[in-house]
Amino acid sequence: MTPIAVAYITAAQGGGDSERWTRMLGEALGRPVDMRVWPNIGRAEDVTVALAWKAPGGALARFPNLRLIVSLGMGVDHLLLDAKLPADIPIVRIMDEGLIGQMSEYAIYYALRHHRAIPAYEASQRARQWKVEDFVDTADRRIGIMGLGAIGTDVARKFLGLGFPTSGWSRTPRNLVGIACHHGAAGLDAFLAGTDILVDVLPLTPETTGMIDGRLLGKLPKGAYFINMARGGHVVDADLLAALDSGHLSGATLDVFNEEPLPGSHPYWTHPKVLVTPHIAGETNPRTAAASVADNIRRLEAGQPLIHTIDRAAGY
Ligand SMILES: NC(=O)c1ccc[n+]([C@@H]2O[C@H](COP(=O)([O-])OP(=O)(O)OC[C@H]3O[C@@H](n4cnc5c(N)ncnc54)[C@H](OP(=O)(O)O)[C@@H]3O)[C@@H](O)[C@H]2O)c1
Repeated sequence: MTPIAVAYITAAQGGGDSERWTRMLGEALGRPVDMRVWPNIGRAEDVTVALAWKAPGGALARFPNLRLIVSLGMGVDHLLLDAKLPADIPIVRIMDEGLIGQMSEYAIYYALRHHRAIPAYEASQRARQWKVEDFVDTADRRIGIMGLGAIGTDVARKFLGLGFPTSGWSRTPRNLVGIACHHGAAGLDAFLAGTDILVDVLPLTPETTGMIDGRLLGKLPKGAYFINMARGGHVVDADLLAALDSGHLSGATLDVFNEEPLPGSHPYWTHPKVLVTPHIAGETNPRTAAASVADNIRRLEAGQPLIHTIDRAAGY
């Protein structure tokens, strides 16, 4: 069977996960994959499909017969930054149920940690102190999810399943059973006013860049908690630090940052109210993601409409 030539382009050292992708995509397609791992791409003319994650600028313009660009992450901001990104080639993203599940685990773990006052109990144990913290009923801890897409919907449904009053905010109207859905600029203030734990799972677009600033944080109730597992570019760091220092926010868990890796001198590292993780909320898993890529390659070859496509104008 003729192998399909696929380029695997990532800035990750050591070729990233190319070996697993070659195996898993081959299995999902039912035919061999001739994986060309950047920068060793061989004859660029052979390649029709590119798998990309933080590709070096201009790399995707190197393939004259490219017909499909696949983002190996669920975010596509890394692709749209490339000034030489070929204009007329469709972009799709992976749809990875495994990654979606990990994102929900992350949000729920850090929300429950805050909700059940675990940091206070850890401190009490260190002090050999038997001290019971104030009880907050789950029914009184309101979760607000910014972004009700593939990930936000799963996160919202799982919080609802745990008994938390859950709301969400999106660009266009959404309708999710049991979840209070808000949308657009007009819906933002009401959404924020009813949120005790804010979970950011928006894409990074021109509209969302820098939107989590002092004004927005000031609309959350006093004592609110913030979890960012989306993109650091949403946040004005100085404003978030000011909201934590003033006591308006009770704490934050941050997985993503304006600059990654987070520089050693950054105040987040040592801030007593901040938990830092190194962009690990959701890892793309070829085992769970390859089927969606194979599906789109089959559709491309059969001339059928692609799925999980990106709206370049909207930026996601
Ligand atoms: N930390 C990690 O490890 C990690 C891993 C994976 C993904 N992520 C991040 O998570 C993001 C979300 O992923 P996803 O798959 O859930 O995205 P998605 O399916 O594209 O959904 C995006 C959601 O955000 C909403 N939205 C977009 N622009 C908006 C705006 N200006 N105002 C209000 N709402 C807006 C969309 O509204 P509509 O419903 O109206 O379209 C949609 O509900 C990714 O873009 C990526 O940045 C992070």
